[in-house]
Amino acid sequence: MNRPEDGERRASRRGFLTGAAGLAAVAGVGVRAEAAAPNPQSTEPFWGLHQGGIVTPAQSHSYFAAFDLVETRREDVATLLRAWTAAAARMASGQTAQPLDSALKPAVASHAGDAQTKGGDAYATPDSSTMAADTGEALGLSPARLTLTFGFGAGLFSKDGKDRYGLASRRPAALVDLPKFVGDQLVDGHSGGDLSVQACADDPQVAFHALRQLARLADGVAQIRWVQSGFMPNFNGKETPRNLMGFRDGTNNPRIGDPQAMAKVVWVGEEGPDWMRGGSYLVARRIRIALEHWDRMQVAFQEQTVGRHKYSGAPIGKTKEFDALDLDTTDKDGNPVIAQNAHVRLAAAASNDGAQILRRPYSYNDGVDFTAERWPPWRQGQEYDAGLFFICYQRDPRTGFIKIFERMAKFDMMNQFVTHVGGGLFACPGGAAEGEFIGQRLFETV
Ligand code: HEM
Repeated sequence: MNRPEDGERRASRRGFLTGAAGLAAVAGVGVRAEAAAPNPQSTEPFWGLHQGGIVTPAQSHSYFAAFDLVETRREDVATLLRAWTAAAARMASGQTAQPLDSALKPAVASHAGDAQTKGGDAYATPDSSTMAADTGEALGLSPARLTLTFGFGAGLFSKDGKDRYGLASRRPAALVDLPKFVGDQLVDGHSGGDLSVQACADDPQVAFHALRQLARLADGVAQIRWVQSGFMPNFNGKETPRNLMGFRDGTNNPRIGDPQAMAKVVWVGEEGPDWMRGGSYLVARRIRIALEHWDRMQVAFQEQTVGRHKYSGAPIGKTKEFDALDLDTTDKDGNPVIAQNAHVRLAAAASNDGAQILRRPYSYNDGVDFTAERWPPWRQGQEYDAGLFFICYQRDPRTGFIKIFERMAKFDMMNQFVTHVGGGLFACPGGAAEGEFIGQRLFETV
């Protein structure tokens, strides 16, 4: 496993528990008496050709955040990415974001000071030099296979017609503005952003902790625009997890263990700018599911909608989950066994000139809010704000998500039950070699 080289004392979360009692006082936190035993199964590599969290077997929890860059210089953005990379590498290996015996060093410390002198910024820290280097809630926890995946939105390249950082000419052609799809109900509070970070871990506290430390480091350079937490049962690849509709989700995904398939579908190759090689494009969609409506449907109708059997996950008419999806079979009356507008028919590569994406979704559950439905039984009242935080990766969104979803948005039977209410498109650069920072080649080549 690679380890971050930050030239400073390495305060491991486990080491903290076993040896550094004095530091507990520095951090001001109570800790459990025993450390978790080191477990090689609980870490995912951070450094490498590709960023983690893309072809990593999905962890059970996710915390996604989109950030807006506040008016700053290009060097400040690079400095932030350098600080984020160092902290991410430390946290992925089970360490605190920064050494515990140091004070928090926001990526661009001068900004906190500036705001303070101006006296107007409610978010400026009174004195960031006295802030703990880590908020402490992950002390003693396993790294829980934490991955942090960074992405760049169109706003990094230009915003409101302004080339803020001299990067406009570097915007990759594939980082398009997503078209408005039929039925889209995207709201600003869940959409867009100049930067994205997704923390995934097998422990929700580890995922949130990691994101929280990165947000603190961004003080004065970037502010959170929107966040989304998510969860999925984790069968360690032994079983396909079920989403909130009760169906297995991921059966016909390209195999993450097949490097050739990943090179074809997921990783940007020679066609992209050099900083994107080995990277991928992330499309996120916050998709609210009308669960109350769905739950009133007969299972047979739900199965027609998806095009698969609910309990086995097999294609309609077949018995096993991984039986081939046969779109040509008809019943005795000549009707297709898998309906013309079933979700899987419209989504399948065979219906889209071979187009494929790697789906890595998480369910979400954000409580209830008041909704008035216009379809029978014209129900009004509190309804779940729950659904699927759909994330997919691809080599090029124009030939991936956009190509596949355009027709689905119009014809998918599932549209009766789902509404896309947020999301974004982010270019996730290739991974960093130890000593580099994520996206370094973009900033160097200007
Ligand atoms: C709430 C929203 C959604 C739900 C509940 C959902 C659920 C499912 C389920 C149950 C399957 C069948 C099992 C599998 O192969 O994974 C599936 C397949 C698939 N879905 Fe979705 N999905 C949703 C949104 C989307 C969106 C927005 C896309 C965008 C392109 C998409 C693309 C696909 C693809 C490509 C397949 C595989 C089709 C095949 O080749 O058999 N899904 N989805």
